[in-house]
Amino acid sequence: MTVTESTTVRDREAYPPIPGRATLPSRCSDALSGQEYREAMSRLAGAVHLVTTDGPGGRAGFTASAVCSVSDAPPMLLVCINRGSSAHGAFSRNESLCVSTLGADHEGLAALFGGRTDMERRFATGTWRTLRTGAPALADALAAFDGRIVARHAVGTHDVLYCAVEAVASVGEADALLYGERRYRRLPRVPRPAETPAVGSA
Ligand SMILES: Cc1cc2nc3c(=O)[nH]c(=O)nc-3n(C[C@H](O)[C@H](O)[C@H](O)COP(=O)(O)O)c2cc1C
Repeated sequence: MTVTESTTVRDREAYPPIPGRATLPSRCSDALSGQEYREAMSRLAGAVHLVTTDGPGGRAGFTASAVCSVSDAPPMLLVCINRGSSAHGAFSRNESLCVSTLGADHEGLAALFGGRTDMERRFATGTWRTLRTGAPALADALAAFDGRIVARHAVGTHDVLYCAVEAVASVGEADALLYGERRYRRLPRVPRPAETPAVGSA
């Protein structure tokens, strides 16, 4: 697959109201500040990932919560990366990325990849391997999604990278790491029904 040309969404007119849908209350106006928006977004608890790449642009990675599944046929996800970040140059030049979803014991890695640390030091911690594309995958990630960047859209301060997933890996045994209200939280793993001991069993 080839990388498609970038598209920039410049203004609100690009998002017309959807007929028949309720509109959002009061604070959705041109006067809404980035700070107000970030404050509201901080209430959303979400999974934490390391997004990594390697190739002609060099090895790089950053902590991300803006990761979302797009489709399962074909398997596709998206990642939002700040164009001002130190990792952005590498992601612009490279054609693959890997999303490693973090467990509760990976809080230190999340902080390390969360900025102000050079790439060498970020990758000196943790055990890394490759899956299919050559992008670094965290060996004990809750799940890892490895694939090719097939499209890029510039939206506001960020680039949205669409990634066609070619390989996945999972340890599946650990508690998950969440980030919400500007701090990390542990989400305990719930045993699957087959693993739950039967009532009355010894
Ligand atoms: C929990 C958490 C989630 C983050 N999510 C994103 C994200 O989705 N996209 C992004 O570009 N930066 C995100 N960041 C910020 C980057 O990890 C990083 O701090 C930023 O790119 C600046 O890094 P730099 O010092 O290498 O330039 C997140 C940081 C944290 C701690």
